[in-house]
Amino acid sequence: MNFHNAEFVISAVNESQYPKGNLPEIAMVGRSNVGKSSLINKVLNRKNFARASSKPGKTTTINFYNIDKKINIVDLPGYGYAKVSKNEKLSWANMINHYLEGRQQLKTIFLLIDARHTPTEDDLMMIDWIEHYQIDYYVIATKTDKLKPSLRKQQLDEILNILEIDDKKFITFSAQTGENKDNILKIFSSFE
Ligand code: GTP
Ligand code: MG
Repeated sequence: MNFHNAEFVISAVNESQYPKGNLPEIAMVGRSNVGKSSLINKVLNRKNFARASSKPGKTTTINFYNIDKKINIVDLPGYGYAKVSKNEKLSWANMINHYLEGRQQLKTIFLLIDARHTPTEDDLMMIDWIEHYQIDYYVIATKTDKLKPSLRKQQLDEILNILEIDDKKFITFSAQTGENKDNILKIFSSFE
């Protein structure tokens, strides 16, 4: 995989629209505005390929992106965004759960959390849920460029303590500086 060919495949709202075939998939999951679409753009070296926005709730469908005809990267809507209606929240939650629960091609989940904040109840629930379904995952702590260097270690240690996960599953990331971009590319490559 040389990452030269990245293309948008489809925006799906239900299973019949998911791509057919057996390409492995890696899904981006996390709170609204945490940086899921920005991670995809930075790692693939493309501007606004996955649509990112400072307005939370930007991604409202399940968006599939293909890389080199080898893997699909899946950008899911964010959870926990307060300003959408109850019905809309429910419909996003159903959409996300349905994909995560039933998708055979799903090989690993990237659960993104904001490195500046302690994980939310939603984040903890998501980890429990992923572990319950025994899906492989990494926790990606995003926006590390916004951490004060003097507080960085303390903040990251606190997150690890709260999540109670193996630090091998924990990756820091910044879409500004590209921190650990290469390690994420390595993970993508391992599924081809
Ligand atoms: P939804 O689609 O609403 O679920 O959001 P998302 O998780 O896809 O977030 P998105 O990538 O759209 O980013 C949200 C905002 O955070 C945008 O204004 C980004 O520019 C900003 N952002 C994302 N990643 C980083 C980062 O690593 N550092 C900084 N400083 N800002 C970031
Ligand atoms: Mg998005």
